[in-house]
Amino acid sequence: MKVLQVSAEIFPLLKTGGLADIAGALPAALNAAGCEVRVLLPGFAPIMGDLQSDSVLAELTAPWGERVLLRQGLLRTLGIRAYVIDVPHLYARPGTPYEDEQRQPHHDNHLRFALLGWVAAQLACGLDDQWQPAVVHSHDWHAALTSAYLAFGPARGRRVASVYTVHNLAYQGVFAPIHFYDLGLPSHAFSVNGVEFHGQMSFMKAGLYYADHITTVSPTYAHEIQTPAQGCGLDGLLRARANDLTGILNAVDTTVWSPAIDAAIPHTFDANNPAGKARCKAALQQTLGLAQQADAPLFGVVSRLTEQKGLHLVLAVLDALIERGGQLVVLGTGDAALESAFKARAAANPHAVSVRIGYDEGYAHQIFGASDVTLVPSRFEPCGLTQMYGLKYGSLPLVHRVGGLADTVVDSALEHLADGTANGFVFNDFTMQSLERAISRALALYARTDEWQAVRRRGMLQPLGWDKAAAQYVALYRHLVT
Ligand code: ADP
Ligand code: GLC
Repeated sequence: MKVLQVSAEIFPLLKTGGLADIAGALPAALNAAGCEVRVLLPGFAPIMGDLQSDSVLAELTAPWGERVLLRQGLLRTLGIRAYVIDVPHLYARPGTPYEDEQRQPHHDNHLRFALLGWVAAQLACGLDDQWQPAVVHSHDWHAALTSAYLAFGPARGRRVASVYTVHNLAYQGVFAPIHFYDLGLPSHAFSVNGVEFHGQMSFMKAGLYYADHITTVSPTYAHEIQTPAQGCGLDGLLRARANDLTGILNAVDTTVWSPAIDAAIPHTFDANNPAGKARCKAALQQTLGLAQQADAPLFGVVSRLTEQKGLHLVLAVLDALIERGGQLVVLGTGDAALESAFKARAAANPHAVSVRIGYDEGYAHQIFGASDVTLVPSRFEPCGLTQMYGLKYGSLPLVHRVGGLADTVVDSALEHLADGTANGFVFNDFTMQSLERAISRALALYARTDEWQAVRRRGMLQPLGWDKAAAQYVALYRHLVT
């Protein structure tokens, strides 16, 4: 079955968060499950730079009159066939894919990402006569207009199924209504039964409204987004579409995240030979100037520093953690206030706390490799990947019971230790008291070395690979095209 995957990011070429990890892993996982996947991406510089053996498939005119080149070729690093929208003045810019260097959204994001959906719909409608997808699978608001353009395009009535995956309902792609008229959608699409959202235009809503099927990245999040508390104003629509909404849990790309073969960590290890982990920890403590104590429980955070991630709770419990002999390593970037708060704590406690502001893929691997606990206290979390990377690297996840965190981590309460399901620590209330109690449980287990190692070993051996999720996506695609 031919599947066109549409996303703004793809690991390892362009990544701002978990979306890229998933977009990078899914093609190979689906191919292994019998699909034939191609990807459509905007022509951001790292993507253009990786495209080889390429040729121009088509010269198109976007709905707002702009001339657009669509290239096809091979993404060398990933070894997958790709279509890339080559419009340098839209995509070849400094900053992130979404924001300029001052962290302001690009003024024309509605056009930059409408184009992604519009080209996806052209491909779905037979633009490439050598390759006609049966399914178009779009990710997040950046690609969400795909299904709207499909609903009104020439493929109407043809069996090109559209799947839209919500990676994070909080980022919606909402724009002033005036921009709607640039996009070439019929005027009646700007209505409550369409892309209109409180007088604005919402790309996210377009995806949710027009896609044949909606998926999100964990079963618990699929339920949560149907509630007012987590529905970001779209819970009513999601409840109305509940029969077309599935939670499929993300997975781990074990070609990238395996401590036994990881070139980014100084000492490799695995569940049966865990000694390298202690060496990774000693090496990191030394490099960072932390106290060289093998038995100091080392907590790690690798995260966007945003309100979603609940890291103000970590700041609130940090003194207590240090008093109890713990150490903290943070790698992250985001809100200026969180960045400076963490930096101040590191400056005040240089032997116990290290904070690096920035984005560093290799250093992220080293933190998972070295740390004993991976902290993910998110206020909400559609899936979360770092708790799973923590499991793989023997760094027990300590998480808030929400979204995909609730689906992947089982608290080391006595009954779960007894029945062998414990793999980390989970707190229920989003408060510093609840987090503190989970940290106490972690420290208590850490002091019982044999039990700690047993839980850690079990976590490392957990099958978190892509086969299960890929099979679920393929079953969904089959259901939609038959
Ligand atoms: P989200 O997508 O909401 O940011 P996820 O847990 O799904 O959260 O994915 C985050 C991804 O980004 C992981 O691969 C994580 O290792 C990575 N990451 C986050 N912040 C950084 C950083 N500062 N440096 C390197 N990698 C990071
Ligand atoms: C989003 C979510 C995160 C999820 C990731 C990949 O960025 O915030 O929870 O793991 O997408 O699906």
